[in-house]
Amino acid sequence: MSGFQAPRGMRDLFGADAAAVAAVERAAYAAAEAAGYQRIISPIAEESALFERGIGGSTDVVAKELYRLTPHAEDSTTLALRPEATAGILRAYIQHGMRSAPQPVRLVTVAPFFRHDRPQKGRYRQFTQFNVEAIGDAGPGIDVEVIELGASFLNQLGLTGVEVHFNSVGCSDCRPAYAAALRAHFAPIEGELGEVDRTRLRDNPLRLLDSKDAAVMRRAESAPALPGHLCDACAVHADVVRAGLAVAGVKVIESPRLVRGLDYYNRTAWEYLLPGEEGQQGALGGGGRYDGLAALIGGGPTPAIGFAIGVDRVVHALHDRKIEIRAATQPLTVICGIDEGSIGARIRLASLLRAAGSAARADVTPRKIGKQLEGASRDGAVAVIIVEPDGRYSLRAMIDGKQEEPTDEASVLRAVAALVKRTERRA
Ligand code: HAM
Repeated sequence: MSGFQAPRGMRDLFGADAAAVAAVERAAYAAAEAAGYQRIISPIAEESALFERGIGGSTDVVAKELYRLTPHAEDSTTLALRPEATAGILRAYIQHGMRSAPQPVRLVTVAPFFRHDRPQKGRYRQFTQFNVEAIGDAGPGIDVEVIELGASFLNQLGLTGVEVHFNSVGCSDCRPAYAAALRAHFAPIEGELGEVDRTRLRDNPLRLLDSKDAAVMRRAESAPALPGHLCDACAVHADVVRAGLAVAGVKVIESPRLVRGLDYYNRTAWEYLLPGEEGQQGALGGGGRYDGLAALIGGGPTPAIGFAIGVDRVVHALHDRKIEIRAATQPLTVICGIDEGSIGARIRLASLLRAAGSAARADVTPRKIGKQLEGASRDGAVAVIIVEPDGRYSLRAMIDGKQEEPTDEASVLRAVAALVKRTERRA
C-alpha cells in the first residue's frame, strides 16, 4: 500500500517555508493593526448559498472551484469551505449588528481559503490570504486608505515598486449600458464560445473580460472600456480616489478592462502587481468596493471595501527576489545539563526566563554536553547555561566565550538580561 500524501494543491509547510509564511502573517497583522484594523476570526465553512448569492453563480470561484461539503443526515443546509473572506465577514457584520458600532468597522484576518483550481506555482487549493475589510463608509477616502495600506505593506516587505492596476466597474445605474456594449462586442464570436461563456454573454457579459478562454481573451483586448460608460457619480468617485492615491504616493496603472473574478464589486476595483507582471494569475492581491453585497445576503444597504493579498504569492515573490523576511526573533538562551537529575531544574529555568520575557529552551536530550552546546550554537543561542550536577550554574556568552557563575535563579535571570543587552549593542 502506498503511503498517504497531502491532498493535491494543499501543501505541508515546514522549516524555512513555514517561517516565511508566519513572518508575512505577523507583518500583515502588525501593518493592519497599526492602522486601526481589528482581528476577526470567522468559520472556515459557510452556507454554500452565501457564496452562490454573494460571489455570483457564473464566477469560476463558485461555478467550478467551490468545495461543497456533504451535509450530515440531520442537517438541512449545505456548507462549503470558504473560497474567500469577504462574504463571510460581511455575514458576520450583519449577524452581530456591527452597524451600531462607529463606522467604518475595520477588520483584518490572515487565514486559509480553499478553491478547487488546477494547482501550479502560486495557485493552490488551500492558500492563505491577508484580508482587510472596511465596512460602513461610502466615501472615496476609505478607498484611498485601504488601497494605500496594501501597497505600503508590500513595499515595506521589500517588494518595492508595487503597482496598483486600477479601474472603476461602475454601479447598477451605469453598468447595464456597459453590459449591452459588451454583449454587442462579443456577439460576433458567440458561435466560438463554450457553454459557460455563452451563458455569461447572455446573463453577465462582464465576466467575459475575466475568461481564461483564448478566443475570448483575444476579443476582450478590443472590448469597450468601462470608464467611458460611467455615470457622473461613479466618475467623480474614481477621480477623487485617483487624486488621493497620487498624493499618497501610490503608483497607479489605469486598467480600463479590469473586472476581477468576483461579481460583488462596484466602483473601485484594483489589483496589486509587481512591475513586469501581468494578469490576475500574476497578481499579489486585489480588492474592490462591494456596496451591493450586503443586500444580496440579507442585510440593509452597507457600503464596504477591502482587499486580499495572497500570502503564498508574497512568499514566492520574496524568495524569487532573494529578499529575506526575518521575524524579529528574540535572543535565545539554551539551558543544558550533564545528568538526568538536573532535567527539572533545566526546564524550570527555561520557563522562568520565558516568563521574564526572554526566548529560552532547555536541552533535555541524553546527549553529551559537547553535542548540546553544538545544538545551541546551531540555533544561534546568545547564551548557554549549564546546570552542573551539584546544582551550580555556569553561563557562557556565545558572542565572546566569557563565562560567569551565577549563584541562584534570580542572578541567572539578571545575568541573561545583561548579556542580551550586551549582544544587542554589539549587533
Ligand atoms: P481574489 O482576487 O479572488 O480576491 O484573491 C485575492 C488574492 O488571493 C489573489 O490576488 C491571490 O494573490 C490570492 N489567491 C487567490 N486564489 C489563490 C489560489 N488558488 N492560490 C494562491 N493564492 C490565491 C478575493 O478573494 C476578494 N475576497 C478580495 C477582497 C476583499 N475584495 C474585497 N475585499
